[in-house]
Amino acid sequence: MSGPVPPIDELRERLRAAPSICVLTGAGMSAESGIATFRDALTGLWSRFDPAQLASEQGFRANPKLVWDWYAERRAGVRAAEPNAGHRALGGFAGRHPGRLTVISQNVDDLDQRAGNADTIRLHGDILEDRWLEPCARSPGCDTARASAGTPPRCAECGNALRPGVVWFGEALPLAALDAAESAVNCCAVMLVVGTSGAVWPAAGLAGRARRRGAFVAILNPHESEIDDEAHVVLRGTAATLLPALFDGSDRL
Ligand code: APR
Repeated sequence: MSGPVPPIDELRERLRAAPSICVLTGAGMSAESGIATFRDALTGLWSRFDPAQLASEQGFRANPKLVWDWYAERRAGVRAAEPNAGHRALGGFAGRHPGRLTVISQNVDDLDQRAGNADTIRLHGDILEDRWLEPCARSPGCDTARASAGTPPRCAECGNALRPGVVWFGEALPLAALDAAESAVNCCAVMLVVGTSGAVWPAAGLAGRARRRGAFVAILNPHESEIDDEAHVVLRGTAATLLPALFDGSDRL
């Protein structure tokens, strides 16, 4: 008489049978690649600043050099980082099962893309991208690559400043990304929520949306999150441990 099925085995079987899978990722997905989670990102020099102050248009306008330097340091960290086993497990599955898995990321790094999930939905933008702080008066807008050196770089013609291509606190998410995320969530059979505190909306609301539409929702996080009660199962562990265990075993999906 076999005992109850371990949650990870039940989840693996559900993933095996799922025609469509969504994975919502947060900063914890990249933690094992050496990229500090958002709420830990303010270590050392930055620890005396409030992230919401640095990651906001108001904070940038108040102190453009400070905010630009903080992002420059984080960009260098992203460029130096490598996808971890969690990213690679998702990328490998996407390669074996084209179109079956959709990654919806709150992260602004490019590790999912580098691991093989090229069409990752970016809810909060791309830290490696620049854009103009003010709408450029020209059409088409001036090429950001031609901005003069500086912290921040500026347009040689009008002095417009460059800013990172990320969504700052108080800013709306890119509508196309949010629509794509909601559409994917509406029709997925299984949703994994990996490495997010569930503190920031509307991303955090996607787990409840999936559950209400009939998906089996699993949270993968070493610690409690604000949306644990949206999950059918919570696996206490890290992304780089649990995702390979789900996708890469000998009977890999
Ligand atoms: N594997 C999985 N999860 C982990 C790991 C790991 N190795 N290490 C930490 N975590 C979990 C933490 O337990 C926490 O729940 O990752 C989560 C990180 O939470 P946050 O730092 O709040 O990051 P996130 O949830 O992505 O924040 C959401 O808020 O600050 C804004 O725009 C920013 O995208 C960010 C959003």
